[in-house]
Amino acid sequence: MSEPVYHVPVLLQEVIDGLNIHPSGVYVDCTFGGGGHSLEILKRLDAEGRLVVFDQDADARKNVPDNDDRIIFVQHNFRHLQRFCRLHKITQVDGILADLGVSSHQFDTADRGFSTRFEGDLDMRMDQRQQLTAFEVVNTYTEQQLHKLFEQYGEVTNSKTLAKTIVQIRKTTSLKTISNFKQALSSVVKGNPHKYFAQVFQALRIEVNDELGALKEMLQQVPPLLKPAGRVAIITFHSLEDRIVKNFFRKGHFEEEDVDTDPFGKQTTRPSLKAVTKKPIEATEAEMKRNPRARSARLRIAEKVEEQ
Ligand SMILES: C[S@@+](CC[C@H](N)C(=O)[O-])C[C@H]1O[C@@H](n2cnc3c(N)ncnc32)[C@H](O)[C@@H]1O
Repeated sequence: MSEPVYHVPVLLQEVIDGLNIHPSGVYVDCTFGGGGHSLEILKRLDAEGRLVVFDQDADARKNVPDNDDRIIFVQHNFRHLQRFCRLHKITQVDGILADLGVSSHQFDTADRGFSTRFEGDLDMRMDQRQQLTAFEVVNTYTEQQLHKLFEQYGEVTNSKTLAKTIVQIRKTTSLKTISNFKQALSSVVKGNPHKYFAQVFQALRIEVNDELGALKEMLQQVPPLLKPAGRVAIITFHSLEDRIVKNFFRKGHFEEEDVDTDPFGKQTTRPSLKAVTKKPIEATEAEMKRNPRARSARLRIAEKVEEQ
């Protein structure tokens, strides 16, 4: 039997077009995964071109093509983007890509604990070297911390009741595995259980991997790393991430409000990125049919503003 596909890249053509690839340029793929986007970038690079790829999951390494010295694999969090580029003597790049979230491989590997469909420990670490797991979150966070994360990261409707119930139940019942967790909390489920637990798991996963913190740290390193007219392309899968990217591209910071304003309320700091398209790019109907994961994908592309 053939091995299951590691991951089907979303918005592939749109990313490649958006990055505006120069054959001898230097590119970074922050989320290598199955390498779907990276391999298309490599095809467009000549012998001078370079591609630095990040993935904090050791499993992704096996997808790096052999005998291609144009590609450098970094098994670390992309929040250390500039540090590892510098380590490889790269201070300026032509393009940066991030295709956020987990890969199908991670999702479909039962013992990684990401999917509500399988049995496994409550783990959910993309980087298995890190300490914090979903088990730790569920069993050690305070009621208030749990409430906040289910509300903010999962938009779980009864997040307060859920947090309260977890804190009560964990005194007497083991919340070690996915089935333990789902059974113990069956009484608090609101609406469709599949959808409910999908939201709960999304919240836990975002917390375990500090996904929003890592995204913000990475974005802040994009302007200094990009050459003038260099491009950044970010694919997000939920509104929390998309809002962060949208605000950063527009304003250069993460606040909803303008921060540096003159007495007339006009922003005084010029953002160093300019969005290439006003609205995010979404998958075509045909792609969504082929790959249901593409349904929630939003691609935003920005260009580094020339220094004045
Ligand atoms: C959606 S998949 C990327 C798929 C890839 N574009 C492809 O075509 O196969 C996201 C990958 O990025 C990795 N990842 C997510 N967040 C990361 C982070 N903060 N640092 C490093 N890798 C990360 C995950 O481990 C996963 O393999």
